[in-house]
Amino acid sequence: MSEAALALPTTLAAPAVVAGAAPLIRMEGVTKTYDAGELAVQALRGIDLAIEKGQMVAIIGPSGSGKSTLMHILGCLDAPSSGSYRLGGRDVSELSGFQLAAIRNQKVGFVFQTFNLLPKASLLRNVELPLLYAGIGGAERKEIAREALKKVGLVERAKHRPSELSGGQRQRAAIARAIVNGPSLILADEPTGNLDTRTGLEILELFDEMHARGETIVIVTHDPRIAERCGRVVQIVDGLIEDDRLLSGDAAPRPPSHPPARLAGVSPESEAARS
Ligand SMILES: Nc1ncnc2c1ncn2[C@@H]1O[C@H](COP(=O)(O)OP(=O)(O)O)[C@@H](O)[C@H]1O
Ligand SMILES: [Mg+2]
Repeated sequence: MSEAALALPTTLAAPAVVAGAAPLIRMEGVTKTYDAGELAVQALRGIDLAIEKGQMVAIIGPSGSGKSTLMHILGCLDAPSSGSYRLGGRDVSELSGFQLAAIRNQKVGFVFQTFNLLPKASLLRNVELPLLYAGIGGAERKEIAREALKKVGLVERAKHRPSELSGGQRQRAAIARAIVNGPSLILADEPTGNLDTRTGLEILELFDEMHARGETIVIVTHDPRIAERCGRVVQIVDGLIEDDRLLSGDAAPRPPSHPPARLAGVSPESEAARS
């Protein structure tokens, strides 16, 4: 049996819709066309996607394939052109921009490649902002924001401005801002794209910790090492899902790494004994 064949039992196709409790996310037939007259671009061409609470999902695919567009719709930054999207059981596909903003502030935490922190505000102020929008008062707001900064190991930098920090620290602050509201969904669009490899791995550790605490996380990435640490990998090509795989360790914070390497040491006898 070839090594590739041996590796097969460790992955299985993820069903688009899972039986049992309603998934946190359910998209059916979602399309998105950016209208520029004759130059209209159909960025998504019919996405069916269900994501369970507590899953950590990687979205991969070539540049221009629709990954960011999908994230914007998942995060209620934008509405689909057609199709349905239910978030936490609620149909959000036909809400107005104002209604979407309210849901976004309550339910979604975003992490971007470029951090998107306010340069003139302290880290604490940056992390407080979603709470301010949610109408939480000053003292309580500071307390919750400090807790979020603690979770990412930055509480001692609370008074610093983003420009006084390294790229990795800025991204950690952005993660604190994303989780400060206790969102039901954390979305990260190429969160390590502006970081060196080592710093990127540190950021990844943070996502692993959040996953271990039960958070639902969707990460767009070009980096195969990140994809391999997610329990599920969804590949988008040209506005469609081309592949959707659960890695065998989906329930665990980290799937087993490198199945072919692990199986390389398996002798034909022990392999036969297992099957
Ligand atoms: N605001 C926009 N207006 C017009 N076209 C857009 C807009 N955003 C994205 N596109 C187009 O939609 C397609 C998908 O883009 P995007 O979702 O950003 O892909 P990815 O994140 O996979 O690189 C691309 O052809 C892109 O040029
Ligand atoms: Mg993108």
